[in-house]
Amino acid sequence: MYKKSSSRQLLKSSVHPSVTCSQSYGQKLPKILQASSFINMFMSIPLVACVGIFATLGQALPSPAAVVEVKPIVILDAQGNVESFANATALGVDIYGPMPDDAKFVDGHWEGEPGTKAHAWFRAQIDIDWDSVPEKEKEKRQGSSQMEVTMFTGDNCSGGFISWGIIDYGESYLTWDNMFSLGIGRRGIRGNEHLDLSTFAGDDICGRFVIRAVGGPGCANTPRYNCLRFWSE
Ligand SMILES: *[C@@H]1O[C@H](CO)[C@@H](O)[C@H](O)[C@H]1NC(C)=O
Ligand SMILES: *[C@@H]1O[C@H](CO)[C@@H](O)[C@H](O)[C@H]1NC(C)=O
Repeated sequence: MYKKSSSRQLLKSSVHPSVTCSQSYGQKLPKILQASSFINMFMSIPLVACVGIFATLGQALPSPAAVVEVKPIVILDAQGNVESFANATALGVDIYGPMPDDAKFVDGHWEGEPGTKAHAWFRAQIDIDWDSVPEKEKEKRQGSSQMEVTMFTGDNCSGGFISWGIIDYGESYLTWDNMFSLGIGRRGIRGNEHLDLSTFAGDDICGRFVIRAVGGPGCANTPRYNCLRFWSE
């Protein structure tokens, strides 16, 4: 099962300089995605054509030896406060309150640009250590306590974001936008669960395993990825 984003909203911010990526991760991007003209061409393929491509998708499963894990970090400001909380508060956003109404719902996911209240709220969610949150704050959130993943087009969970809300086991969540960081909200990853990131192998958007994300508050910087899958052993 696949859930896909064909969003074009984030395209501009998602064209990431490949030089930064090679420097940060010692990895060369596939040629196919280095050419921005190719990306533009690719993005203009109508959705109906994409469905045909998705029909042939396989799922990249890493061999255990090839699994590299990436851990999240919480960025603190000069005063030692969680920077994303301070940023949200400065915009008048209650990080424990409901999602701000400037979040956009597109193709089954939430998205937004930097500088919006929604961006500040989603960015802050991934820095919350939910185990230590006081009950009165948790009471503002009723309902499911399952995991949420928010993906970002920039390093350090900057740039545009895509959040799928509660994600399901065994489904792949894909986007044409190149993603470079992510964070997990609402709970951590348990011992028998895995959050695997993958990217293109030829036409298969989830065809090549990239890295496995480890749970915990904060933001994890990753090599470029376009697909995520949460699964349990
Ligand atoms: C907080 O806001 C500043 C100014 O916009 C930005 O540079 C910084 O990256 C933000 N911090 C986080 C953790 O998002
Ligand atoms: C991410 O943020 C940390 C802490 O502010 C900083 O040291 C690091 O250089 C940033 N990484 C990137 C890739 O921007």
